[in-house]
Amino acid sequence: MGKKGREIVAVNIKELLKDLNRAYADEWIAYFYYTWAADFIEGPDYPTIASAIDDIAKDELEHMSELADRIFELGGEPERDLEDLQKIANCKKVVFPKDERDLEGVINALAEAEGCAIEVYNKILQKVSACYDKDVRTFHLIEHILSEEIQHEEAFENLLAKKRK
Ligand SMILES: [Fe+2]
Ligand SMILES: [Fe+2]
Repeated sequence: MGKKGREIVAVNIKELLKDLNRAYADEWIAYFYYTWAADFIEGPDYPTIASAIDDIAKDELEHMSELADRIFELGGEPERDLEDLQKIANCKKVVFPKDERDLEGVINALAEAEGCAIEVYNKILQKVSACYDKDVRTFHLIEHILSEEIQHEEAFENLLAKKRK
């Protein structure tokens, strides 16, 4: 982002960059666990569920890249150290059941992970909406990501409801 583009962002950029970087770390971690889950699960329903998880994993990768773009635009740098990425993340882990056929357990863990993401983006959105006119671009980015996380949670909850029928 150029000089003027940065000048109009009249928020605490240091704090914002910290929040964006922590969310960036969350997205990497989500992508890792989601793709792992898509490969891990077994059982008769697994192709449909694995493909749903894969689709959502792609969204997380897109969020990661959108956040990286905004971090660069604001003059920061996305976390480059894998160990530090884990340290700064808000949502550090997704704990799956031991049994790869326990699809309910897997989907439940994924729905919980989405809950964590929703809380994180909701908090960032509260902060950036307090100064909406000072950083419109971040506001719209976070609003867009938050609405997708809400859809993800719903998608996992719908899968769970189908499994329980
Ligand atoms: Fe995400
Ligand atoms: Fe998500």
